[in-house]
Amino acid sequence: MSGFRLDGRTALVTGASQGIGEGIARGLAGQGARLVLAARSVDKLEALAEALRSSGTEVAVLPLDLADAEATAERLKELPEGFEAIDVLVNNAGITADNLIVRMSHEDWDRVLRTNLTGTFAVTQALTRGMMRRKFGRIISISSVSGLMGNAGQANYSAAKAGLIGFSKSLARELAGRNITVNVVAPGFIQTAMTENLPESARSDLTTAIPLKRLGTVDDIAAAVIYLASEEAGYVTGHVLNVSGGLYI
Ligand SMILES: NC(=O)c1ccc[n+]([C@@H]2O[C@H](COP(=O)([O-])OP(=O)(O)OC[C@H]3O[C@@H](n4cnc5c(N)ncnc54)[C@H](OP(=O)(O)O)[C@@H]3O)[C@@H](O)[C@H]2O)c1
Repeated sequence: MSGFRLDGRTALVTGASQGIGEGIARGLAGQGARLVLAARSVDKLEALAEALRSSGTEVAVLPLDLADAEATAERLKELPEGFEAIDVLVNNAGITADNLIVRMSHEDWDRVLRTNLTGTFAVTQALTRGMMRRKFGRIISISSVSGLMGNAGQANYSAAKAGLIGFSKSLARELAGRNITVNVVAPGFIQTAMTENLPESARSDLTTAIPLKRLGTVDDIAAAVIYLASEEAGYVTGHVLNVSGGLYI
């Protein structure tokens, strides 16, 4: 990618230990950004950090459990040395705990909302202060088409993902005066651990329902994030970029 360079920018990606978050981290590093990789699995983060360092990227690892918002806020008070000024925040970490409403436990409702929405609030609040002081920021949250169109069996997940959209639109208005843009990427079905357990028949039905006739890749999502993080996207805020192969139109 020749445009959309991110040299000199520092990005923090939550859920960078695998899947879409790892792909986003690799994509941002490829554009010249320095990276803070956050998630619970420190070993996986360290392995990714090593791989990125060997191709010349400056990287720090930040262990973080988003399900504990207070500990997350505490942890973000001290960012790794040399990585204190975060320019680009990618709120990617997320979980599912699917069930039909009549069978959904309060614990599964709460865990998904706590991780996907309240955890994102905690990280964003902590990092917004510095962005406001420096009068620059890019906040990008990974929602889902489930948050836009709903999905049977995902009431908790869809509520959290729709919540991210309302959250981001409010912040876009609140932070625009400080030159901070706030946007959302809403992926459709992407090939990762989250979707690999789909039975073959479900995968085939799904592919038929997607106008572009394929599942997405982590690179499809990384490209959207790179754009929204770039200088070139400086006039885009409060937007939901649907990257679903046309599943949601
Ligand atoms: N795959 C899809 O088709 C798809 C579609 C639409 C939207 N999305 C969204 O895209 C994002 C990434 O999905 P994915 O498919 O890459 O999922 P994934 O492979 O399951 O990865 C999820 C990531 O979130 C992190 N995470 C989970 N719970 C966490 C917690 N309590 N604290 C900190 N980090 C936590 C995980 O790291 P640790 O386990 O190391 O903590 C992991 O890095 C999610 O928000 C998901 O909802 C995915």
